[in-house]
Amino acid sequence: MKYFIITGTSRGIGESIAEQLMAPDHHLFCISREKNMRLLQQSSSITYLAFDLNQVDQIEALMEQIFQSIDKSHAEGIYLINNASMIAPVAFIDTAEAMEITRNIQVNLLAPILLSASFIKHTKHGAMDKRIVNISSASARNHLPGMSLYSAAKAGLDVFSQCVGLEQNSAQAPVGIVSIWPGMIDTELQREARTQDKAVFPSADVFDSVKESGMLTTPEDTARQIITFLFKKDFEHGEVVDIYDYSKLTEQR
Ligand SMILES: NC(=O)c1ccc[n+]([C@@H]2O[C@H](COP(=O)([O-])OP(=O)(O)OC[C@H]3O[C@@H](n4cnc5c(N)ncnc54)[C@H](OP(=O)(O)O)[C@@H]3O)[C@@H](O)[C@H]2O)c1
Repeated sequence: MKYFIITGTSRGIGESIAEQLMAPDHHLFCISREKNMRLLQQSSSITYLAFDLNQVDQIEALMEQIFQSIDKSHAEGIYLINNASMIAPVAFIDTAEAMEITRNIQVNLLAPILLSASFIKHTKHGAMDKRIVNISSASARNHLPGMSLYSAAKAGLDVFSQCVGLEQNSAQAPVGIVSIWPGMIDTELQREARTQDKAVFPSADVFDSVKESGMLTTPEDTARQIITFLFKKDFEHGEVVDIYDYSKLTEQR
């Protein structure tokens, strides 16, 4: 049996990843605030945990609950996909509320760090295949005014993946870890970026033109690429990997 812990499965890329990972010998632990009933109707091998990743002090208990239902002695592989994310507040930092700032960093950076730390603790003695995929973003490198928190969190996640990658190199039974930049995908997160008030977030235009010029990929295609990556033999452990198909950009020129 292979076990998958996936965050952010109520819509977008996370929903597609969960959908495509459904298989008789796979068990999925899906995490988001809203339960995805469509996924639950499709498979009996899903444990759905309606959980707000802002509750960072409850993450250890959440992982404890998950690992209590994993039969480690018969597990062929255990995988964590940190996919959940939020873009808000899209605003110049001096106009953001302290609570909004805290939430962004908690969901985008602290929660995946805590989930990864707990995942490694729970799996460190197991001989099964163990991998963490952190879904990051090219926003870690490409900076726009109004997106400082999202970019800082993703850059932090990339550095975290790289450092933990180094740590795991000396582990007896290492956990593989990577950060993936998935590209530009037609999801709610993109819609939120392009529909911001342009007076507050002038770069909304950039997101508008990306949509208009057909440069967005589908969540299904992106999920397929991420899953291919997850099972790759030469998993690029400790790396930040950009999987966007840049030929899409060339086609537009
Ligand atoms: N779309 C893009 O163009 C793009 C580009 C680069 C990187 N990415 C990355 O790809 C990943 C998926 O993004 P997406 O575009 O699919 O976004 P999305 O459609 O907005 O979905 C975000 C998911 O995260 C969950 N989530 C948000 N806040 C949460 C919280 N407090 N607790 C638990 N779950 C929470 C949401 O579920 P609930 O609301 O039900 O909690 C939802 O399932 C993210 O890491 C994003 O940064 C996306």
